[in-house]
Amino acid sequence: MHCCDYRLIITMLLKILSLLPPERLQTVISILKEAPFVNGTLSAGNAAKRVKNNEEVAMNAAQMSQLNNIVMASLVANPQYKSAALPHRIAAPFYARYTEGMEYGDHVDDPVMGAADRYRSDISITIFLSGSEDYDGGELVIKTSFGEQLVKLNAGDAVLYPSSSLHHVNPVTRGERLVAVTWVQSMVRSAEQRELLYQLNTARENLLKTKPEAEASKTVDICYANLVRMWSEL
Ligand code: NI
Repeated sequence: MHCCDYRLIITMLLKILSLLPPERLQTVISILKEAPFVNGTLSAGNAAKRVKNNEEVAMNAAQMSQLNNIVMASLVANPQYKSAALPHRIAAPFYARYTEGMEYGDHVDDPVMGAADRYRSDISITIFLSGSEDYDGGELVIKTSFGEQLVKLNAGDAVLYPSSSLHHVNPVTRGERLVAVTWVQSMVRSAEQRELLYQLNTARENLLKTKPEAEASKTVDICYANLVRMWSEL
């Protein structure tokens, strides 16, 4: 477990470093080079349309399933993601491109998404595909109870944050910003409860590894299981 995770989760953001390993990232980047991008406002709700200025891979693009297989496989297998998101449903990602002058103004993400199979967005996820050195500007800026947090991570890193938070993407002033974005409906709707469970689970895993026979470890393990049961809705 990374040293700073406790600090980050208290500000409602969780960074997952190296979610996409370099070889998968390279494959994703080369697929994106061939993929058709369309105006991002096509997928935006009415309010978001006014502030959204980016491009996205067309939903019906032939490359979509290949991209999703790589990105989703890495995400759903990640232990930190599973522990923090407690996912019930996850959306197929969007792949967005911001070139010079593009940005996405202040907005909250749509509360309910999907057409036939609808789901509530509890957690928003941005996976950075370009390196932070590949562009200037383009920070993801999230309003939290501790002020604005600027997020610009290395290629392959991801950030999770509550979909209810107001956020924007600063204008890109040089280069190209490529990201994958997706949304999760969590088994646990409350961000506060999810944070407690994430921290408790981190302590639980540590106890089960270092003191598997201790009475306290067994108690924490049982309490974690029963809290997930108490707070889950499916
Ligand atoms: Ni958004």
